Amino acid sequence: MDRMNGKVAIVTGGARGLGGAAASALAAEGARVVVADVLDDAGRAKVDEITAIGGTARFAHLDVRDEDAWKRMVEDTVEGYGCIDVLVNNAGITLPRTIEEATLEEFRHVMDINLYGAFAGMQAVLPALIARGSGAIVNVSSNSTDMIVPTTTYYAASKAALANLTKTTAVHVGLKGYGIRANSIHPGPHATDMLADPEVAELPHIKMMRDTVPLGRFGRPDDFAQLVVFLASDESSYITASEFFIDGGLTRVSYPGVRG
Ligand SMILES: NC(=O)c1ccc[n+]([C@@H]2O[C@H](COP(=O)([O-])OP(=O)(O)OC[C@H]3O[C@@H](n4cnc5c(N)ncnc54)[C@H](O)[C@@H]3O)[C@@H](O)[C@H]2O)c1
Repeated sequence: MDRMNGKVAIVTGGARGLGGAAASALAAEGARVVVADVLDDAGRAKVDEITAIGGTARFAHLDVRDEDAWKRMVEDTVEGYGCIDVLVNNAGITLPRTIEEATLEEFRHVMDINLYGAFAGMQAVLPALIARGSGAIVNVSSNSTDMIVPTTTYYAASKAALANLTKTTAVHVGLKGYGIRANSIHPGPHATDMLADPEVAELPHIKMMRDTVPLGRFGRPDDFAQLVVFLASDESSYITASEFFIDGGLTRVSYPGVRG
């Protein structure tokens, strides 16, 4: 359990769900972890959970839309832990709407968190990674980049843009010789609060996916977390600008559209 020994990792949306599982897994492999979230109580509880089993973690209140908060968190992290090695841009929201139901205001809200929040994070953390001479960025996209369903108007657009932002960043930092890598993870449905939201859980395509996934189940948070550890660790040192689907094969199955 030492694949992340000596490394410092920031996980946004780290208080619960997939980000919470990633924070725990990174800490279990020896990383010092910053759990960054808007949920103070859940974030502190996650830190307590990690420290109770001998890990090292701290909580930072962070709204990923707030550039000043990013700056403060980066400064605090470098002051407290000495460096930053890994940024996991995991914070994200979904608001299921078709194009007919959608509003520009809601669209901007989702883009602000899912896309511009990750952008702000990469810009804020990059100088620390460059100073370190190495680093890994893991951006959490979605299989909705490739699996098109009608209610993901905002979400699929934000996650597809995030995947390409990851690649432009990866190629830039690669060519600069900074020793930094960036990849995106594209989860299919995983059992978290996001999926437990009745508005999401009852969507016809979610029910159909549950029956269709080739590996016979939705993802568990730890499935996702182990992929984060791999992409954050030196085990993936020749992997950059790549998309990783973790969905039990679901995206490769043709989805029959539901009329109505
Ligand atoms: N669960 C799934 O099935 C699934 C599938 C594909 C992609 N994803 C992506 O995985 C990531 C995590 O999803 P999850 O299922 O764990 O969701 P979740 O709702 O359980 O957790 C999301 C976390 O992000 C935090 N967050 C939201 N807005 C924030 C903000 N402005 N600033 C800081 N933190 C904020 C929340 O407080 C929460 O802790 C998201 O980016 C999501 O889009 C999830």
